[in-house]
Amino acid sequence: MASSLNDEPVVIVKNLSVKFGEIEVLKDINFKVYKKDFVGIIGPNGAGKSTLIRSILGMIPYEGEVILKGKVGYVPQLSSFNREFPISVYDFVRLPVRKEKNWKAIVDEVLTKVGLEGFGKRLVGTLSGGQYQRASLARAIVGKPDIVILDEPESGVDEMGKARFYDLLYELNEDLGITILMVSHDIGMVFEKCKTVMCLNKTLHCHGPTREISPEDIKKLFGEFDIWIRAHSHYEVEHAHENPDLSNLKENK
Ligand SMILES: Nc1ncnc2c1ncn2[C@@H]1O[C@H](COP(=O)(O)OP(=O)(O)OP(=O)(O)O)[C@@H](O)[C@H]1O
Ligand SMILES: [Mg+2]
Repeated sequence: MASSLNDEPVVIVKNLSVKFGEIEVLKDINFKVYKKDFVGIIGPNGAGKSTLIRSILGMIPYEGEVILKGKVGYVPQLSSFNREFPISVYDFVRLPVRKEKNWKAIVDEVLTKVGLEGFGKRLVGTLSGGQYQRASLARAIVGKPDIVILDEPESGVDEMGKARFYDLLYELNEDLGITILMVSHDIGMVFEKCKTVMCLNKTLHCHGPTREISPEDIKKLFGEFDIWIRAHSHYEVEHAHENPDLSNLKENK
């Protein structure tokens, strides 16, 4: 049985709007995420999911207010640019703890946690899709964050890899009490693993417990839902998002 949510909000988004030039991508978004929640954010291509995450992380300008209470770890949307960067798994994962004297022990522990024991010296570019996503998760959690934000972490990963990855997230959420916000195209997995679902398409169309909302409700909200599901069965990532260094991320109190 999933543990109950704490009543303390750790992410507060108020009247958030984002424009790129004249085009409004996000409009008047309001929500709170409570400690220990596991939120799945779903919506069609171009809905503004990555934009929402990048606003929350302070990576792009926005109107409105975002309050983050705690330390954040981030797993960006997969891009070929990230994978080809000539860097070892150790150097990739240790970024947030590079100033710690015992960084190697810390990184080894987290690599073991994500099932990449002994992979430290491998080049990131030689990892499989699933291994790379686990290395990204290791980097996101190595600094012991309170909140982990992931942008389509399952893209390019096979079904087995996906299930394993979601199990890891479930453990982080259940055992360590880490609050998770995850953008996903895998609606089945979101309804199976997440406690809360948010449906985004420029505005926030719905936000509530997965046990109270069904995929049919979402179908009513998004007329194009069927097309959307089909379109994503062969989903390929087109966007290249850079990996920000979040070690200096401001903590709003
Ligand atoms: N830096 C940018 N400059 C201009 N337009 C942008 C920029 N970033 C995103 N957009 C546009 O904003 C809209 C939302 O993009 P976003 O990447 O947030 O969508 P998404 O929901 O994450 O889509 P996907 O499912 O494909 O990842 C799209 O129309 C996109 O082209
Ligand atoms: Mg995106």
